[in-house]
Amino acid sequence: MNNATPTSRLTHRDQDLDLPFVEAVEGNSGISIAPLRKQTGDVTYDPGFMNTANTKSSITYIDGDEGILRYRGYPIEQLAEHSSYLEVAYLLINGELPTQGQLDNFVSSVERRTLLDERFKSLFDGFPRDAHPMAVMQAGVSALSTFYQDSLDPFDEDQVRLSSYRLLAKVPTMAAYAYRVSKGHALLYPDNQLSLIENFLRLTFGFPVEKYIADPVVVRALEQLLILHADHEQNCSASAVRLVGSAQANLFTSISAGIGALSGPAHGGANAAVMEMLDEISERNMDPKDFMERVKNKEDGIRLMGFGHRVYKNYDPRAKFVKKIADDVLERLGIHDERLDLAMQLEEIALKDDYFVERKLYPNVDFYTGIIYKAMGFPTQMFTVLFAIGRMPGWIAQWNEMIHDPETKIGRPRQIYTGSELREYAPMPERTGTTEIRLEQLQAELEAERRAQQERIAQERRQDH
Ligand code: CMC
Repeated sequence: MNNATPTSRLTHRDQDLDLPFVEAVEGNSGISIAPLRKQTGDVTYDPGFMNTANTKSSITYIDGDEGILRYRGYPIEQLAEHSSYLEVAYLLINGELPTQGQLDNFVSSVERRTLLDERFKSLFDGFPRDAHPMAVMQAGVSALSTFYQDSLDPFDEDQVRLSSYRLLAKVPTMAAYAYRVSKGHALLYPDNQLSLIENFLRLTFGFPVEKYIADPVVVRALEQLLILHADHEQNCSASAVRLVGSAQANLFTSISAGIGALSGPAHGGANAAVMEMLDEISERNMDPKDFMERVKNKEDGIRLMGFGHRVYKNYDPRAKFVKKIADDVLERLGIHDERLDLAMQLEEIALKDDYFVERKLYPNVDFYTGIIYKAMGFPTQMFTVLFAIGRMPGWIAQWNEMIHDPETKIGRPRQIYTGSELREYAPMPERTGTTEIRLEQLQAELEAERRAQQERIAQERRQDH
């Protein structure tokens, strides 16, 4: 489909340019600036890509002003209500909802691939106990390209399909292992009689000597959370996956880059940051109103974590659903978590406060998820890992779309150079203004590094006993 029609005129310096217009089915259409540099020698400048579409996409539609999120046209609320996680994965990757036969095949192709190569155990054992599970998982996903060299060709559809099954199946196992290694617990083998999600819960929380029975309410709640996280169009991590993939790097390597991007607190790391924020307010016995004053005054750069979104300027539709899941799970597990009350108080203050109203800051998906994950038994460090498990189908779909798009070129932004003009190399004695590093300062830094290393070794020894 080529929707390009020359309808936008740009007057730049002394030239008139007719720029092709790329029409969207819904939402923002685009002005193609492809002829700009060639014809004028100038480029566009758009930090953070606030106004720049990097691709056409038919996977996910978001209307940030109306609070709408749809996968392949289907509203997120309907999918979270009626679908399974793997059905949504099929939809995102293949473009259509599966028939029963297609779904059965897909589920079985994924669920029988949960086992990891034995040597993964030594890989996981090699990391320090206090390693963040996101870093462990990123390394694990990257390592898949060393174990599965039979499915690395980005242009072979069968190989890509196989890699996709492997990712969907093995990432939950890796996530569970990353958690267990941090606890020093024995690693269990998957039980492929169980569904993917039950298996993940058993691998995470089960004991080798006891049968693990997952609570169906917890299983369904986790499944719904994974569905809500499954894709979110061209966000930071999906863009990382596409960018790395545009160099024709294999699917595992590209997705490992996405995991790295997701780990940041401004992206997927926000769910853990919300929990840390709620804990800090409680531990310090702070009045929620005083905390909000600090946020509004931007004291120490603090933000109300779990609030605000680059795209949503309305209530994040995922957050509405998550709040409902939080109520159901906490009631089912008979847990009263004061942090939920605190989060609701913060939300209430924010929704009435001019600072948040004027900037259109509403709860995002991360505001309430941490409370549910805590109730399920996950430690804070695992929250972003759960986000990554959920996002796997979206990353795969985005990567596939990129690799099959005839317009794909290696991602390579331009820059606007602001450094020195041409100058001659200066010999050392002629240089001025260099900072002298004093010997004592160097020694102090080495001493601090040595102490930190000793403390780390002592901590690992304490954990071993
Ligand atoms: N608390 C307080 N002020 C905020 C917040 C917040 N959470 N978010 C934005 N603002 C203010 C910001 O200080 C700025 O104010 P001013 O106009 O006075 O300078 C204004 O709102 C616009 O902020 P911005 O940083 O330019 O907006 P952005 O679109 O670049 O940032 C964001 C989006 C998500 C990074 C940001 O809202 C934020 O840091 N939120 C907290 C972190 C968070 O919850 N992230 C999870 C995002 S959802 C999960 C995902 O999809 O990854």
